[in-house]
Amino acid sequence: MKEIFPSPPPLVHNQFEAVRDLFAKNVVPSYGRFDLALSHGAGSYVFDVAGKRYLDLGSGIAVCCLGHAHPAITEALVEQSKKLIHVSNLYFTEPQGRLAAEIVKRIGAGKCFFANSGAEANEGLYKLARKFGHDEGRFEILTATNSFHGRTLAGIAATGQDKVKKGFEPAVTGFRHIPFNDLEAARKAISPATVAILIEGVQGEGGVTPATPEYLLGLRQLCDEKKLLLLMDEVQCGYFRTGKFQSFQRILENVPGGEKFLPDALSMAKSLGGGFPIGAFWVRAPFADLLGPGTHATTFGGTPLACAVALKIFEVIERERLDENARKLGEWLKSELERLVENYPTVLKNARGLGFMLGLELAEKVPAFASSDKSASIQMTNRLQQAGVLVIPAGTQVIRLLPPLNLKPQEAGEGISIA
Ligand SMILES: Cc1ncc(COP(=O)(O)O)c(C=O)c1O
Repeated sequence: MKEIFPSPPPLVHNQFEAVRDLFAKNVVPSYGRFDLALSHGAGSYVFDVAGKRYLDLGSGIAVCCLGHAHPAITEALVEQSKKLIHVSNLYFTEPQGRLAAEIVKRIGAGKCFFANSGAEANEGLYKLARKFGHDEGRFEILTATNSFHGRTLAGIAATGQDKVKKGFEPAVTGFRHIPFNDLEAARKAISPATVAILIEGVQGEGGVTPATPEYLLGLRQLCDEKKLLLLMDEVQCGYFRTGKFQSFQRILENVPGGEKFLPDALSMAKSLGGGFPIGAFWVRAPFADLLGPGTHATTFGGTPLACAVALKIFEVIERERLDENARKLGEWLKSELERLVENYPTVLKNARGLGFMLGLELAEKVPAFASSDKSASIQMTNRLQQAGVLVIPAGTQVIRLLPPLNLKPQEAGEGISIA
């Protein structure tokens, strides 16, 4: 008798094709996407539409800080949505006030403005700086080469990478780039029009490069001396990722003079909502009222729903000491990556980063990558995907590990063993 086999899963395969088709026909093709359609997740894992499981060491580019489908986030969403989702900023709502207080408590005396994304939070910083310098005719913001500040028009002008600017000229005026971690270059670049310096604590898209303590302290002194605002973009490197709430707090811990350091304002987004869109900026006390009524606004900024989720995430991180987890497990991961670099010098060049913001730089001219015109970082990311691990490319030579803050030791071990 003819044996009857269970039918192969053409529908499962077709589902990926079908999803990709929907995108091809209906979605603006502005992203270079991997051939992967994801359907659901649990903790540090996500599953594709064919049911294959991946260890997610990228957490949606440093966003899903509690992993996927965390019950506390679900509960906060459900409970708050039963009460109030949105009312606009014409009115006061308690969750927004409480969330601002939580952020202020962890940084220093000041105030918060809520937005929806990192780029939008940064837009607030640019407007703050322009308002600060307006009456003196100062408006120019210095930012670093290799920086990334988002994809709005001002965001790409602020970003120190040509690839994001190409095709969108003329650029928004008032931004100039200086080499990162070079204090003298910053000093020399200041013009009579300069009003602020904006840097990332750890450059993310630029390849995971932390600012040095000397640079941060030196910039603070320079900005005080020249009456400039020191602005920090903590969108990717902030929110406990390095083991402290903001990256400057980690970079400057145990550094003489570091305890007194504060930027004048900083932006955050990504992990603040664990996947629910929310961005914010914090601004130091003397400048906190610069943007008065009517000067800045956004319809969805700081909705009760977004703020309730963000408040719940703070609670979980504090209760489970996930900052410590990012620090300790991050150190272990980094030492393992360094071991891989030692063992495979023809493929891997360098491991760097802080806590759960790690970069693995690939060697130049890896023979296995020679036959494709895709960058080494994309090819390595593809190979890891095939092996069941998601990582994030940064530029052409670096892959980033930005795992959820609640990654477990055995999951970290699994990632390293697959790599
Ligand atoms: C440092 C930094 N700033 C700003 C942004 C822009 O954030 P968003 O994509 O939420 O606008 C990003 C995004 O990757 C980022 O890494």
